[in-house]
Amino acid sequence: MEFSIKNIKAEKQRSDLIVVGVYEPKKLSAAAVAIDQVSNGYLTSILKRGDMQGKLGTTLMLYSVPGVAAQRLLLVGLGRERDLHEREYRQAVRAAAKAVVGSTAGSTASFLAELPVGKRDIAWRVAQLAEVTRDAAYRFDRMKSKPADPYALSSLTVNVPTKADLEQGEAGLRQGLAVAAGMDLAKDLGNLPPNVCTPTYLAEQAGELAKGYGFKLEVLEREDMEKLKMGALLGVARGSRQPPKLIVLQHNKGPKDQRPVVLVGKGITFDAGGISIKPSADMDEMKYDMCGAASVLGAFKTLGELGLPINAVGVIPTCENLPDGNAVKPGDVLTSMSGQTIEVLNTDAEGRLILCDAITYAERFNPAALVDIATLTGACVIALGHHATGLFSNNDALAKELLKASEDTFDRAWRMPLWEDYQEQLSSNFADVANIGGRAAGSITAACFLSRFAKKLDWAHLDIAGTAWKSGKEKGSTGRPVPLLAQFLMQRAGR
Ligand code: BES
Ligand code: MN
Ligand code: ZN
Repeated sequence: MEFSIKNIKAEKQRSDLIVVGVYEPKKLSAAAVAIDQVSNGYLTSILKRGDMQGKLGTTLMLYSVPGVAAQRLLLVGLGRERDLHEREYRQAVRAAAKAVVGSTAGSTASFLAELPVGKRDIAWRVAQLAEVTRDAAYRFDRMKSKPADPYALSSLTVNVPTKADLEQGEAGLRQGLAVAAGMDLAKDLGNLPPNVCTPTYLAEQAGELAKGYGFKLEVLEREDMEKLKMGALLGVARGSRQPPKLIVLQHNKGPKDQRPVVLVGKGITFDAGGISIKPSADMDEMKYDMCGAASVLGAFKTLGELGLPINAVGVIPTCENLPDGNAVKPGDVLTSMSGQTIEVLNTDAEGRLILCDAITYAERFNPAALVDIATLTGACVIALGHHATGLFSNNDALAKELLKASEDTFDRAWRMPLWEDYQEQLSSNFADVANIGGRAAGSITAACFLSRFAKKLDWAHLDIAGTAWKSGKEKGSTGRPVPLLAQFLMQRAGR
């Protein structure tokens, strides 16, 4: 799908389809007013009949509207004008995108980015329109023997209100498409079955990115991890026939002396729980336990697309967590790369075990900030549901930066406490620390565990267990938190 930016009158736009908004109750947006005028009140008559009330997310397709150059006109309900904020704008854009890709129109022009949305500028509105539209049009049929028919939609023109907005519109579009490309990659990796998307496959995909964008790539093998004494990561990997990998990607486009931002992504390509095996119901969804890793690769794709002037490192510890005669057992004590010993009381709390060694490894890059991203705890889903990512940090300024990025992208996160008080839940009779802290505050004690390995760093942890994928009928990867991470990197790069 080709996107472009234009400034043209709605009624003059020659395309298979144009998209314009209608507020509730029955109030036309600016583009709709222009069309109403050239069509002698055609839209007003439709509103009068009650076929379109302007309710948020409703759509109505009209054909051969008098005086309009386009063949079809899609009316999109926007809800009440004063209530049109970020969430409502995205919902209207998504509803429009669904109707557009469901139609037979090849070329479409959208007039939705013209709509005022609080204080958001035209670049934001265009970026969000591109991202949400690409998201709504995403399909994953690579594993079907016969892929679905391609969409008719081949071009989407996004209209901006004035000629003076063209430049900002272009900038927003570039950014939105780069984020969408990163999300697409993260979604594909998440949705791929765990017999395809193995640690080796993730390393190969990192190789493709490195080739395409000139990143530096290093893949550490089991023997390298042994030399580095990564006992925690190696402990988790013991139950699997798939070799573990530690993937290290570097994008060095910032000043030479600039300390890098390091992103660390959990890459468990399947989490059966190990000896502390999970119940069978919905266990297939544990193929998504590498979505942290996927979001790091996705954010690097966005970085590469935009060529951001910043230094960034991606570190991905990846392996499977399976039961086996050789697997780590409850009661085993592992020695992490940091030297801290860990009593494994539950082999299903494996994410923190692979992450702690990756965080220690990342110290060598002297990070300006380290952010880890992980589908870490079911408890986070209980706490925040599927809307917000859990944010934990040992640094208020870094937490603030990430929250700003999350608000600006609507890829929302919510800060959780990391008080010292919770640490005692992790005490062990036999090692320096236990890998579980009991049922209470499960997402916080998981973050507390990680914090013990990030003491020397400005560090934040994103628990994406509730936000990285959807269950049920719409089962699939969401591509989150690629928008948040990309925005964070853009902020750091001064964009
Ligand atoms: N990958 C899971 C977390 C998870 C579970 C994410 C369900 C999304 C949905 C993680 O490795 C895990 O199993 N965590 C345990 C920790 C517990 C044993 C302390 C959990 O959340 O139950
Ligand atoms: Mn687990
Ligand atoms: Zn897991």
